[in-house]
Amino acid sequence: MINQLISSAENKIKLAENKNLLDVSAIRRHFLFPERGRIVTNNAASTQPPKELLNLYTDLSKDYENVHRGQSNASRYITNLFEESYNIITKFINAPDRRNIVITRNTTEAINTVMYSLLTQFRDGDNIVTTFMEHNSNYVPWYGLCKEILPKFGIKVECRLARFQPQTGELDLTHLKSLVDSRTKIICCIGASNFLGTKIHLHLVKEIADYSGYLQPNGECRSLLLVDGAQLIPGTFTDFHTLNVDYLCFSFHKMLAPFGIGVLCAKQHLLETSLPFLYGGDMIAEGDVSPDYVGYNSLPWKYAAGTPNILGTIISAQALRLLLDLALNPDEQKYFLTTNEFNIQTVEGAMNRISSHIKMLTEKAMYILSRIKGITIYGPKNVNRRTGLISFNVAGCNPFEIAEELNKAGVESRAGCHCATLAHKYLKLDPPASCRLSFYFYNTIDEAEFAAETVNKIVNSKNRIDISLNTNENTLNNGLTK
Ligand SMILES: Cc1ncc(COP(=O)(O)O)c(C=O)c1O
Repeated sequence: MINQLISSAENKIKLAENKNLLDVSAIRRHFLFPERGRIVTNNAASTQPPKELLNLYTDLSKDYENVHRGQSNASRYITNLFEESYNIITKFINAPDRRNIVITRNTTEAINTVMYSLLTQFRDGDNIVTTFMEHNSNYVPWYGLCKEILPKFGIKVECRLARFQPQTGELDLTHLKSLVDSRTKIICCIGASNFLGTKIHLHLVKEIADYSGYLQPNGECRSLLLVDGAQLIPGTFTDFHTLNVDYLCFSFHKMLAPFGIGVLCAKQHLLETSLPFLYGGDMIAEGDVSPDYVGYNSLPWKYAAGTPNILGTIISAQALRLLLDLALNPDEQKYFLTTNEFNIQTVEGAMNRISSHIKMLTEKAMYILSRIKGITIYGPKNVNRRTGLISFNVAGCNPFEIAEELNKAGVESRAGCHCATLAHKYLKLDPPASCRLSFYFYNTIDEAEFAAETVNKIVNSKNRIDISLNTNENTLNNGLTK
């Protein structure tokens, strides 16, 4: 009897837990890659697009027209969809208003937008603090500003790099704090590392920025904070309002949408008072151009010079609606292509399900990988501190060869420095490379297991070949010396 009670209680717990599990088989029916038998585990580079988003290109093409540039029904229709896309993005990341949103090509362009819009605000003797954990996209623009652009105007600005703990992959906040002072105009920090997988304690970085004492042009006394959210936002609930950072950048091609659209979400007063990044059509106030004066358009259009990637923007925003559907109920289209409202709690619920699934995959793969002799897995040991990527090296194995062998077994991975060149060099990796598996919410637990087991097999068979080569060499040498 007691046993029956226990097992029925256990079943109830399991059922409750199951409610929170993603329906991965149903989710996978929305994609083309399973038909190819592909094991897509290079999602930190780009994710796969659901069929609905690809079909949307064709559907939208029936009313193909430019935005803000015509009086036709088609132009009005596409303009409405385009403008509504800004609202969807705003809601998804809980920004106050669509005036906070700048649409770019990708995260890299979003970061460059900040760099160019602040260019003229830097004062001689200022500094920028970033970290050794950055993707090159959040280091090279600041390097360029400090080493190449500002010196041409006689302005010296230092670019400082905060360290991370090699063993744990955690950002060294004490070191970061020691680099920040009353001349730190901006701190530029990754949200989650694309190499170590570490999620940064952003509220602690924010605290450091807030107490720097830097005098900003509007009288505020603090450093600005830019967060590169490219690896954070696709798998982790991210709320711009709560984070309270100044700039948040990310790319849609890492969260289901096809290539071509990124976002800069910024505090409105910063976009209002900064110079535009690109100058040209549509970013000017209607009719306000004369030989001596140009008036800018209101936000968000001040940062939308030239004909934008219209279809890309609409489809990327719909990718967010579809992501909610896939996470919450993949058999129903409650949000995709509808006008149904969603709030931040809906997004949080969906993203938490996605995070839990990715965590489960990562934990499984890390467990298998960690038993491989000679392996080094970079970043935090605790999956709660990580995103869904695992970078590793195995002593005596070339990471590129592992990736090639994985590919032969049908497992897609990435070897290289993943544009985290500073971090690879900081760890003195030679070559500056690692092999990386990265999961998204359409991956199954079997795929995570198979990918990790395949690494294990590759390493074992290489070790066997090495041993037999050594044995042969010894036999040969012995033969020769005799
Ligand atoms: C952390 C991080 N930042 C920036 C980028 C650059 O993104 P994009 O190529 O979309 O500009 C990436 C891409 O891998 C990334 O992982």
